[in-house]
Amino acid sequence: MNAPLPIVETVSLPHGSYQVLLGPGLLDSLGAACRRACAAMEVALVSDETVDSLHGAAAAAALEGAGMRVVHIVVPAGEASKSMEMAERCCREMTRGGLGRNSLVVALGGGVVGDLAGFVAAIHYRGVPYVQVPTTIVAQVDSSVGGKTGVNLAEGKNLVGAFHQPKLVLADSDLLATLPDREFREGFAEVIKHAAIRDPEMLDAVVALDPQARHDLAPLMARNVAIKARIVEADTEERSGLRALLNFGHTIGHGIEAEAGYGGMLHGEAISLGLRAALDLSVRHAGLSLGFAERVMRALRHFVLPTTLGPDFSTEGILKRLALDKKFESGAIRFVLLRAPGDAFVSSDLSVEQIAGAIERLRADMD
Ligand code: NAD
Ligand code: GLY
Repeated sequence: MNAPLPIVETVSLPHGSYQVLLGPGLLDSLGAACRRACAAMEVALVSDETVDSLHGAAAAAALEGAGMRVVHIVVPAGEASKSMEMAERCCREMTRGGLGRNSLVVALGGGVVGDLAGFVAAIHYRGVPYVQVPTTIVAQVDSSVGGKTGVNLAEGKNLVGAFHQPKLVLADSDLLATLPDREFREGFAEVIKHAAIRDPEMLDAVVALDPQARHDLAPLMARNVAIKARIVEADTEERSGLRALLNFGHTIGHGIEAEAGYGGMLHGEAISLGLRAALDLSVRHAGLSLGFAERVMRALRHFVLPTTLGPDFSTEGILKRLALDKKFESGAIRFVLLRAPGDAFVSSDLSVEQIAGAIERLRADMD
């Protein structure tokens, strides 16, 4: 039986539009899709150890089946691989494997592999094309689209990077079936973020899902990709402030994630805490209704995402991380708040004391 036709979303940009293909059974067509998207016949297939063991052979077979030469690059799983050292290692493996200016990078994995491999593609021989094959919810709804690539420094998350748009995103929803329960649930933090800032009705679709079951998620993934694509089209390099709205929940969330030590907490788990703090500040300082904040919180709890900050985290430590974050400018933190469901804005008016208060209130249980 033939696989159903994929859902196609296009990211329309002045310097190169690209398609996001979503649906089950797409991995087999990776080679043919890459050949349609770009001329390169030599490929660095970058993955992490976990994803490579599950899906690497099928991805390589699909590329080789289309006549491409594949150099396999496998990095350890987890956030710690988003580093300058790992980027250098990938570039060196590509060079040793004979992959130069005319090669293609294929990122097979979650947001970590996508951000790292995209960054490698941005800098290798001053830039080669790349294709995203996202394998987590976070990557399918968010990180594979929009061209933000980069690595972390010990000082903070994503502090080194480049805007480099992919030639194609191929999101095979079957690949989500192998996600462990915790990694499956964490991805919904970014879905819930999209709902809060752009599509409040999507919260109903989210809480209707059984977090234990593996549904066909392609339509929900596509709904999120459409939200992200329209924002990226309107503010590709985060200059007007529109794209910054995607950082809702990420200011304190990134601070907590960095403070936990990379890999200490999953990205979506830290963002869940960041969302609670951002909702709290939105209710207090932007007029958001408590009812909507509680509705978003119910969605986070539906996916058993953390909403209470543990005693191991000091408020001061998280605040220090914020001062090193890209969102801190000329002494003021640019903080995304919600004034109403689906209506977010960037505020520079919050004081450090107000932000510290929100972090402190994360220590209290919700129920
Ligand atoms: P991840 O890439 O670390 O994946 C989580 C875990 O799931 C890893 O251990 C991985 O090996 C495993 N895994 C991945 N796919 C699997 C599969 N199909 N089956 C079994 N196991 C699988 O984490 P993530 O949550 O996907 O991404 C988080 C990263 O994405 C963070 O670094 C974050 O900063 C970044 N991010 C970037 C953007 C962007 O716009 N560039 C947006 C959001 C998040
Ligand atoms: N995930 C935030 C962005 O892509 O802008």
